[in-house]
Amino acid sequence: MIKISASILSADYTKLGEEIKAIERAKIPYIHIDVMDGHFVPNISIGIPTVESIRGATDLILDVHLMISNPEKYIEKFARAGADIINFHLEATDSPLEIIEQIRETGKKCGITVNPDTPVEKLFGLADKVDMILIMSVYPGFGGQEFIKSSLDKVKALSEHIRKNNLNVDIEIDGGVKIDNLRDVLDAGVNIVVVGSAIFEAEDMAAEAERFSEIFKEFEHR
Ligand code: DX5
Ligand code: ZN
Repeated sequence: MIKISASILSADYTKLGEEIKAIERAKIPYIHIDVMDGHFVPNISIGIPTVESIRGATDLILDVHLMISNPEKYIEKFARAGADIINFHLEATDSPLEIIEQIRETGKKCGITVNPDTPVEKLFGLADKVDMILIMSVYPGFGGQEFIKSSLDKVKALSEHIRKNNLNVDIEIDGGVKIDNLRDVLDAGVNIVVVGSAIFEAEDMAAEAERFSEIFKEFEHR
């Protein structure tokens, strides 16, 4: 199944509860939560208490994207706050296997992420150990950026690696996805599509999500 993960970075924080209800009404199954520390990325966003509040407000799957240095210090805390999937950046650590193990110990799903300039081949040795690989299609730090087209080649190479090795790993893409480039993204092999500004800036989130779902159907047979 191909799914949207709604990036709440683009939500209106004065009414986060209503925004979460809107995501539920739009039948979007995942909420993508962008955690930024002002160190690994040049921006600061939300942290553990907000993840806890979101957990208290919904049963949707919380897909937490850690854009932070020293992720090992916070895995346990985000797990306890209610994350369902914990994604960390390969660039943020010299010991990815230890972090994967740490996430496994919490019982949560594990994802690993690469920035636009990191070759996807660096993840091939880890692909059989995670549930999700997240390919950044913008430089992390801000919503509403332009999609970087070369990320599609990375998705294709990863998708091929997963197919050849018969692995069961979700491929998520994050940044700049809109209706206009959605078919290219799905064609490359993505099955979880992070969408921020395109749905939060739409006049009717549910109608926009439905437009995405209609296109998903063209690719579901894979
Ligand atoms: C960027 C974040 C993304 C971003 C996606 O650092 O990781 O999740 O919010 O938003 P759009 O869809 O607006 O590019
Ligand atoms: Zn993200």
